Amino acid sequence: MAPDGSFPVFWESAYGSNVWDVDGNRYIDFTAAFGVAACGHRHPALVEAACHQIHSLLHGMGDVHPSRAKVDLLDALTAVVPRPLGHAILGQNGSDAVEAALKAAYLHTKRSGIIAFVGGYHGLSGFALGCTSAGKFREPFSPYLTDNVTFLSFPRRTCARDNHDEMSLNRALSAVRQRLSDKYLPPVGAILVEPIQARGGIVVPPDGFLRGLRELCDGVRTVLICDEIFTGFGRTGEWFACQHEGVIPDLMAVGKALTGGFPLSATLMTPEVAASWPKSPGEAIHTSTFLGHPVACAVGASSIKLMQTLAIPLRAARGGDRLMQRLRRAFSGSPAVNEVRGRGMLVGVTMTNGRYGEPPFQVVNRTVTAAMRRGLLILPCGANGDTVSITPPITTSEAQLDHGVEILADAIAEAVT
Ligand SMILES: Cc1ncc(COP(=O)(O)O)c(C=O)c1O
Repeated sequence: MAPDGSFPVFWESAYGSNVWDVDGNRYIDFTAAFGVAACGHRHPALVEAACHQIHSLLHGMGDVHPSRAKVDLLDALTAVVPRPLGHAILGQNGSDAVEAALKAAYLHTKRSGIIAFVGGYHGLSGFALGCTSAGKFREPFSPYLTDNVTFLSFPRRTCARDNHDEMSLNRALSAVRQRLSDKYLPPVGAILVEPIQARGGIVVPPDGFLRGLRELCDGVRTVLICDEIFTGFGRTGEWFACQHEGVIPDLMAVGKALTGGFPLSATLMTPEVAASWPKSPGEAIHTSTFLGHPVACAVGASSIKLMQTLAIPLRAARGGDRLMQRLRRAFSGSPAVNEVRGRGMLVGVTMTNGRYGEPPFQVVNRTVTAAMRRGLLILPCGANGDTVSITPPITTSEAQLDHGVEILADAIAEAVT
């Protein structure tokens, strides 16, 4: 840690739900390093898969001559993704997966309009940035961004007992319907949505939102793309968050926890969408040098099997209930905390203004630093940075979850005084 306890922490090593810095300080990791380390950091099964692969094939030619590791990964993936999403394009990170999904959607529909949502985060490369709503990411590059994207409001579930959720759901779906039938804008080929907005502030929509989008897409042959890069592989209590509503998208982007620590992502699609890609005339129209990297694929295949063995979705559902209960108990009646919300082990704590009227993002930033000094790693999120994001490794023990919540409560108490 820097001598004054300020950002950043220089990481030396990590194991399970703990991180050690170069000065030997230990932290509980409530970030899972951006949601990647679902089974904990440096799980022995993943380290072994990487070492084993490195000794036989370090680099290959993924899109021309597939490696055994790539085939194993695709077999493992198809065993857990909902049918019929049986075709995949691999990438190195989440943005790659979103780019490939948007390209596939265009090839399939030949319509260039896209619906995305305010607060949505889909990555920062070209097409993906075009669908990410936050101005701070977009404005410096605005001349390069497509104007084919319409951003509509993302409805949010509330704790209120009135019919607010139903109204917000109906309003959101009716805006989508209106855009789909708009004759003056480019026809919509794709709706791109996070089933739960993660970096946008852990925003859970009312039940029925995803189902409503699915029905609207079906009526007009627009494709539904679910960005499950943060929510995928069990974090919300199902393998994929779209399964909470029994919805199967036409395309699904996954990354992060796919390998638990190696850069790899995938765009899954139905056979109909996959068939829209033209046959390669010799050089593929969508590829990259490291596509299907053998070490990443070996770790990915091993990680999926590990998540199945550890029943990660079930653990996330149970751990998430405990986490939510502890957080709600710790902050009930607290003037500093506006709301605790989320699903499974994807949880947000939204802050109010500070004691002297400082905006919530300042209180959140002070909380993050105060928590770090006490041995807890957390991150800010939300369009205005007003939310503390809590996404621990899903294997975090109950004792560590409880201890982390205690540290967070102390950090918030310090941040508001
Ligand atoms: C929902 C979602 N989509 C896309 C991305 C982009 O992924 P990457 O940073 O790996 O490009 C992220 C990253 O946080 C994300 O949360």
